[in-house]
This record gives sequence, C-alpha cells and structure tokens, in this order.
Amino acid sequence: MPNTIDLRSDTVTLPSPVMREAMFTAELGDDVYGEDPTINRLQAQAAALVGKEAALLVPSGTMGNLSALLAHCQRGQQVLLGSECHIYHYEGGGASALGGLAYCVIPNLPDGTLDPESLHKALDHDHYDPHLAMPGVLCLENTHNRCGGRILPPAYMAEIYALAQQRGLPVHLDGARMFNAAVALDVDIHAITQHVDTVQFCLSKGLAAPVGSILAGSHAFITRAHRIRKMLGGGMRQAGIIAAAGIVALDTMIARLHDDHRNAAMLAEGLATIPSIQLDPTSVETNIVIFTLHPDTPHTAAELVSALHREGVLMGELGRGRIRAVTHYGIEPEHIQATLSAVRRVIA
Ligand SMILES: Cc1ncc(COP(=O)(O)O)c(C=O)c1O
Repeated sequence: MPNTIDLRSDTVTLPSPVMREAMFTAELGDDVYGEDPTINRLQAQAAALVGKEAALLVPSGTMGNLSALLAHCQRGQQVLLGSECHIYHYEGGGASALGGLAYCVIPNLPDGTLDPESLHKALDHDHYDPHLAMPGVLCLENTHNRCGGRILPPAYMAEIYALAQQRGLPVHLDGARMFNAAVALDVDIHAITQHVDTVQFCLSKGLAAPVGSILAGSHAFITRAHRIRKMLGGGMRQAGIIAAAGIVALDTMIARLHDDHRNAAMLAEGLATIPSIQLDPTSVETNIVIFTLHPDTPHTAAELVSALHREGVLMGELGRGRIRAVTHYGIEPEHIQATLSAVRRVIA
C-alpha cells in the first residue's frame, strides 16, 4: 500500500505502465500542422466512440468546456447551467471573462438534475424583449461532481434535449466522468451522448491518462472549436506523447471503472455506520462519496480533513461542511478498509 491514500480526486491517478510504454514509443508530428499521427488516431477513435462526427484533443476539461461555449455562443448570449456545476464553480468564469457570455444559473437538485420550473423560465424567455440576453447554449454535467457523482439518467437527458431542440438551443455536456455513468448503468456511451450536440470528456480523471480531454461534436462545430483552441493557446505540437496515453485510456481503462464504483460503495457503507457521519450510501452511484458531520460532532469538516491528513488519508473539503472522497485507479479495497479505520480513530 502507498504511504498516503489520496482520495482527493481521480485526477491524482498516475499513468499505467502500458500508457508509459505507449508514450515512449508514440509516433509524433506537429499537430498545429495536423501532422501528429497519434493525435489524429485518438481524435478519430474518440469521435467514433462517442458517436459524433469529429473530435479534438484539448489540454484540459476546462479548455474543452470553454472552447465549446465560445464555439456555440455569440458575445452577450447566455450560458444556461446548473448552480452546482463545474463550469460555473471551478472554471474561473472563463466564458464570461474571455467570451463576453452571461451565466444563467438554474438551481441544481441534489441528484444533479435542473430545477424544472427555473429551467422552463430560462428556456421560455421572450426573444423579442430587447432587455434580455438570448440563450446560446444549455449545459448538463454527467456524472455530477458536486452532487456526489450522481448520474443523469439517459431518459432525463433525452427529455432536456427535446426541450432545447424545440427552441433551437444547442446542448453541451460536461462529461468529464461520463464513462463512469455509462459503466454504472451498463449502457453504451451513445445512450448518453446521443442526447447532446457536443460533449467534453476527460482522459485524465478515472481513465488515468496524465493529461488531456476530448471535445466532440459536428464537423462544423469542431472546426470552430479548433480555431478557439488555438486562440486560447491550446495548439500543441508533438502532443502525440499525450494522445498515446489517451488511446490506452480508451482501450483499457473504461471497464475497470466498475472497481472504483465498488470501492466507493464500500467506503460509503462503512462511513454510514459511523454515528457522527451523515451519508446516505444509496445516493453513491459512481466513484464520488460526499458526506457531512452530524451537527453534534465536536469536529468541523476542516478539522476532520486535517486530522485524516495526519493519518495519511487525503480527502477534500467542498465547503458548507461537505467532505469529498473519490475512488480511482490505484485505490484497492484494502485502502478503503484502512481509510475507514483512520476515520474511526480520528472521530473517536
Ligand atoms: C465535472 C468536471 N468538469 C470539468 C473539469 C475540468 O477538468 P480539468 O481539471 O482537466 O480542467 C473537472 C475537473 O475536476 C470536473 O470535475
């Protein structure tokens, strides 16, 4: 076992030995000239996998989402998104700062869906009223990070897509962890991606590649996003070295996400037996476990996280007393048991 059990995020995963070997031997070229064969292969493979016409390798999920929003919208338009979503909370307000876009924030319900009444209000605004900013894109997130890795069911996504299509509004999916959703539901990824126009997913989270995300959509959309990626400084040269690991991630790391979900369930069930901890283990659907402490507990969330750190267990504090633990490649059942022992010791 490693000395530290790092459950802060699935972004801490290290590349597998097969990835390192593939990176070492990757065939390379200058991707700004479109001449890196490994990147071209990854992009073609990713587009086919998610059922879209074209795909683009970007350095990060943040750049993938930002490129998508800028490619969908004109300055002054609104990005409709959930109050708990990553784009709104953790991407530096990029669409606003760099794209002149306004965020129209719709409350997220605890399961990651959007409050229906607020969504309808945002969708049905008066297009002839010159006071109002026009909606430019609607964003969904699946699985939903700050809602505890919850899955948006394909039927829900279909319903939202139909509402947006009726109004000619494109839908973008922040699918950073969408393969976790597909694996947990035991469905093909198309069951999810068919209900959006464009999608961003991360190679560098549960799929354990060291760097990179994929943005996918129509040829016309990817042509626009490609120009924006260059503008944002995301045109990389011999980045086939990254793409090689991405190909291994797609080939070998999707099915094993089941292990992460099993470990997260084990962690949630164990934590729920500790009286000071508030957590409904049935709400843990994928690899993210979020819990709070009972108000009578003498520790704050920050104190618990610090005390666990001293015991060699790293978790994240999300604010409002919420603590997050994420399972991933490299975390085995024995680490979960060691984590539960550490939590019990610290709370005692
Ligand atoms: C749901 C979600 N979207 C997007 C991102 C952004 O990815 P990156 O850190 O690669 O920019 C993250 C990162 O944690 C995420 O959890």
